[in-house]
Amino acid sequence: MAITPHPARTLRQAASNRYDLVVLANRLPVDHDTDADGRPCWRRSPGGLVTALHPIMKSRAGAWIGWHGRPGPAPTPFVHDGIHLHPIALTGDDVDGYYEGQSNATIWPLYHDAVEQPVFDRAWQDGYRKVNRRFAEAAARVAAPGALVWVHDYHLQLVPGMLRELRPDLRIGFFLHIPFPPVELFCQLPMREEILRGLLGADLVGFQHPSATRNFHSLAEHLLDAKVTDGKIWHEGREVVADTFPISIDVADQQRLALDPAVRARAAQIRRELGDPRTVILAVDRLDYTKGIERRLSAYEELLAEGRLDPAETVMVQVAVPTRQRIDQYQALRERVERAVSRINGDHSGIGRLCVHYLHRSYDRAELAALYLAADVMAVTPLRDGMNLVAKEYVATRTDHTGALVLSEFAGAAAELEEAWLVNPHDLDGLKDAVTDAVDADAEEQRRRMEPMRAYLRRHDVNRWATGFMGRLDGLAEDWSAAAAA
Ligand code: ADP
Ligand code: G6P
Repeated sequence: MAITPHPARTLRQAASNRYDLVVLANRLPVDHDTDADGRPCWRRSPGGLVTALHPIMKSRAGAWIGWHGRPGPAPTPFVHDGIHLHPIALTGDDVDGYYEGQSNATIWPLYHDAVEQPVFDRAWQDGYRKVNRRFAEAAARVAAPGALVWVHDYHLQLVPGMLRELRPDLRIGFFLHIPFPPVELFCQLPMREEILRGLLGADLVGFQHPSATRNFHSLAEHLLDAKVTDGKIWHEGREVVADTFPISIDVADQQRLALDPAVRARAAQIRRELGDPRTVILAVDRLDYTKGIERRLSAYEELLAEGRLDPAETVMVQVAVPTRQRIDQYQALRERVERAVSRINGDHSGIGRLCVHYLHRSYDRAELAALYLAADVMAVTPLRDGMNLVAKEYVATRTDHTGALVLSEFAGAAAELEEAWLVNPHDLDGLKDAVTDAVDADAEEQRRRMEPMRAYLRRHDVNRWATGFMGRLDGLAEDWSAAAAA
């Protein structure tokens, strides 16, 4: 569905600093950087969300409200690459309570099946409320009358309700990028009703996976006595639509990278640098306990110990992107992972021949694409993941239909990439079998699986996701205008 620009309104809104489209996310779509002369500057963040929303934001001259990533005062609003950016200030206390506390030590683990124990702290809840209100007030200030406001992710679940109180004229969408848990888990949250009411302030609530949508419907019925029919939730005299919109990647751009001669040359060089092994197994994750890194290393270690994988012919590359490093659970995970890597290397490596290459850093997209091209097997085995874009990036990179994807059933992507070697990462024997099957797959088997996944992704790219959600929200707005006029 095409998103239509509104040229006349665009001019008017630029003059009045009010916008017909406002996006809110914890982070702004730009990162601090330094230019060629060493001066500080902003660069567009590499993430899929930014890529997806960029054309729409530009055509509608939209505004993006978010945190610039450091504690302290916010920079004044500025325009970057055609998008109006409105930074939100977080104090050191806000970072502790709202971001590292309630968002990432309570909600993040709870929504990911409590694979780590969620921590409940009353002071963090206050911090979460306060910062959510700050975001809602900022949106209320800059949104034009009747504007569409799109709120993203678990940091901002109270914003739709707060914003609706401040500005009932707005059309509000919310998209959750992470899983939404079943009733029994969600009900552990001391703020459970408040969060649910916050989300129900939206007109359209989107999830990655049908099970998340079902959980939301059940919770609305169970906790708030809402009436649910055909995906619509009736609550306090309003209708809220909840539906599934699986996010994707910029497939064409990923393919362009994959076909770039410099990227292909780099992929060949990576294989040489790894010692030209028969098999390269790759894993790329933020260093997060949801990603199943330890289980995967255990599976690899047992396969080497049992002689089912030959350490002279096999290399695993584990890219572990630094993340949320001040939070205890992340520090503890890093220590455990690094201990496991050194144990495996100590037991199975030889001089000049490492079994595990552990890379604790970020890479640019071209280097990541070269790694995807260099990998015979991609192991994506999170214990729980909203979607997992790395799995989609790997498939989109394999333009010649080679390569093998081992994918956790507990990643949202498994609902779409059904031809992958699907595994339960808790079942170590099953995980080991899937890895060896993927290692042993011949070219015909690889193509049989890769071809349909690639065809699926070409039809379901990130543009379809963004325009699908926005188009639905636009459509709801039109339905209501028509109903009001009738
Ligand atoms: P999550 O959102 O939980 O981090 P995803 O797999 O959905 O997991 O998305 C991760 C995104 O981060 C992908 O687009 C991926 O390309 C990017 N990424 C992964 N590893 C790195 C890295 N080492 N450096 C930079 N970006 C990375
Ligand atoms: C996940 C979340 C995003 C978040 C990202 C990186 O993908 O869904 O909202 O931005 O992780 O985490 P960070 O804490 O660094 O923003």
